[in-house]
Amino acid sequence: MNNESVNAVYWLAGERAVRLLDQRALPAEERYTLCHEVETVAGAIENMTVRGAPAIGIAAAYGVALAAARGGRSAVPPAAERLARTRPTAVNLFTSLERMKRRFETEPLFEGEALFEVLLAEAAAIHEEDVAGNRRMGAFGARLLPEEAVVMTHCNAGAIATGGHGTALGVLRSAREMGKKIVRVYADETRPLLQGARLTSWELNRDGFDVTVISEGMAGALMKQTHIDAIIVGADRIARNGDTANKIGTYGLSVLAKVHNVPLYVAAPWSTFDLNAASGEDIPIEERAEEEMRLLPDGSRLPESIQVWNPAFDVTPAANIAAIITERGVFHPPYDFK
Ligand code: MRU
Repeated sequence: MNNESVNAVYWLAGERAVRLLDQRALPAEERYTLCHEVETVAGAIENMTVRGAPAIGIAAAYGVALAAARGGRSAVPPAAERLARTRPTAVNLFTSLERMKRRFETEPLFEGEALFEVLLAEAAAIHEEDVAGNRRMGAFGARLLPEEAVVMTHCNAGAIATGGHGTALGVLRSAREMGKKIVRVYADETRPLLQGARLTSWELNRDGFDVTVISEGMAGALMKQTHIDAIIVGADRIARNGDTANKIGTYGLSVLAKVHNVPLYVAAPWSTFDLNAASGEDIPIEERAEEEMRLLPDGSRLPESIQVWNPAFDVTPAANIAAIITERGVFHPPYDFK
């Protein structure tokens, strides 16, 4: 059993490069990608080498520092613009880029090495604050669980979706550290990219949790016949009224949770809140390439004459969320974030 959770994003000081755990290769292979250029970081966010809202934000922050190291002051604004065009829903990306931009603008006379150093320090601070926040959030969330808990989760909101420890999975880690027993975790497979089957099960199994993979189509039947104490999921963007965008399928899960009287908790850092969004209607939802849906498990493809729809996220209405767990505490409905 590992006590230290695995990381998704590293800064390699000697190489001046961002090292990313290639999440596309898991669980078959634990391999890493080195990014020496901002374009490689942007591509890695787009192709989901690195994914999960906080991890995307952290990788992008290092990407901005990388741009300063390679191209100096003039390279920073275009780098931030390029990174902002990678994925639209996870607001952590934009929160992070805004913060890097503010740091850049507060040092108008810094050039070369001095500029790189301040931007790298800012990126490292974003990274460290995320891990510390996840630990605080984990401790708050753990108190919501009974002494022996059976939990369900969706997608991957773990250490590898963040700077470390995880949000939803961080709550489980913290609960265990607190002496509670996580009897079993049901991980939704999470069509079409299988973050639950490939990543959550790998991450939890590696850390010695009892994990069972189900497809999201099985979640209702499972809730009907098995007692589930809580569903804990992450978030990509939370609006002022508590409406929450998360991986496609979360909304359906929340409806099932209501019917079966299972509390659905969202665990997310403050960097996931978009206080400019009044409700879920204001959250942009990423639609990804059709190919992800066309590809069938046996390697064959759905013919082009058949249409597919591939939104990467959906919005769970605040009314379906029992509580939102953050590093600032646990919020209960009615939500009115300021
Ligand atoms: O498309 P992904 O894999 O980046 O989607 C990830 C999720 O939906 C996570 O639940 C969310 O980003 C929270 S990660 C702590």
